[in-house]
Amino acid sequence: MASYIQAPPTAHPGAPSPVQATGRTINWGVVATGRIASTVVADLQSLGDSNVIAVSSRSEERARAFADKHEIDWAYGSYQAMFDEPEIEAVYIASPHGQHFEIAMAALKSGKHVVCEKSLTINAHEARALVAEARDNDLFLMEAVWSRFTPVFARAMEIIGSGELGVVSWVQADLGFKAEYDPNWRLFNPADGGGALLDLAVYPLTWALGTMGFPTSVQATADLNDDGVDLQTAITLGYTGIRHAQLMVTLNAAAPRMARVTCSNGWLSTNAPLHNPTKLFIHPANGPARTEVFEPVGNNYTYEFREATRCIQQGLNESPTMPWEDSVNTMAIFDGIRHQVGVRYPNDLARTR
Ligand SMILES: NC(=O)c1ccc[n+]([C@@H]2O[C@H](COP(=O)([O-])OP(=O)(O)OC[C@H]3O[C@@H](n4cnc5c(N)ncnc54)[C@H](OP(=O)(O)O)[C@@H]3O)[C@@H](O)[C@H]2O)c1
Repeated sequence: MASYIQAPPTAHPGAPSPVQATGRTINWGVVATGRIASTVVADLQSLGDSNVIAVSSRSEERARAFADKHEIDWAYGSYQAMFDEPEIEAVYIASPHGQHFEIAMAALKSGKHVVCEKSLTINAHEARALVAEARDNDLFLMEAVWSRFTPVFARAMEIIGSGELGVVSWVQADLGFKAEYDPNWRLFNPADGGGALLDLAVYPLTWALGTMGFPTSVQATADLNDDGVDLQTAITLGYTGIRHAQLMVTLNAAAPRMARVTCSNGWLSTNAPLHNPTKLFIHPANGPARTEVFEPVGNNYTYEFREATRCIQQGLNESPTMPWEDSVNTMAIFDGIRHQVGVRYPNDLARTR
């Protein structure tokens, strides 16, 4: 019983450190100067074969400040100006999801390889269009679902795949926090793809996909705020056989942020947060429980950038660990959920014509 998500070579126990070079140096540019770009950039810079030479922002001032803080040489006051720079080979996009499509499309049309934050787009139509553009232009494109690339996730999939705990019966996974309402925050802004679903659900879903693959049915209920974004969404995935997943995402409560995989002969769970846990708790039904502990490398974004860098070096257009089909199918699941619960974004219509 293999796990559904294929672990990259660097995620296996005994693999070289993800910062170790795997080939020629790739020149990177960072798009946007917000919260996650600031957190992630040091991990990208730590790779022995990645050179972060530029950052771009909608504001020249913010680009300069980010460049100074993170010791990056070039700062651009527009994303396109950075895409026009021939020395930059790949870009990491860290804008809100509502802007991913336009920015990633512009980068691909400018001949850049793209690693784009999750959710890749706001709907499946946009995701398919990005994939087509990358394919047609022989470029690398990857949604930055960093959890998939970490050794802890690979190890969890290995334990499930070994059959030690028997057959997977259900997954319960949740993610969320209490977010104070701010109409200017991307989480509450429909134009940015706001709401718990697109911001958080990809991570609990990763545990269901890893252990059981894509579901045969999806049912959801949600509470929306007056702006029409989902504050809390409950998702039930159905599978053939006696298998289910229950996923919960919220902007309204201090959630446990853990995953639990229940099987015919025991269960496995994580500590918090489930998108980057450091511990696996393994509970065989007929044996002693045990805990496995994992040390992060940097902020643990190193693994996704190792994979992207390796793929670009090897001329791959997609990562076997985060294939295009998974991003498109994930967006299709989210489209279905949004249809069920009534979340609409202003740019949905324009981009699905
Ligand atoms: N992998 C992870 O662990 C993780 C964690 C958090 C978020 N994320 C993802 O990363 C993305 C960014 O999240 P974040 O928390 O960093 O957001 P953020 O703090 O709001 O930053 C987003 C940045 O995008 C740029 N931007 C471009 N168009 C924008 C617009 N119309 N409105 C606002 N900002 C715009 C801005 O940079 P400039 O003004 O410099 O252009 C802004 O600072 C989201 O897709 C999110 O899902 C991933």
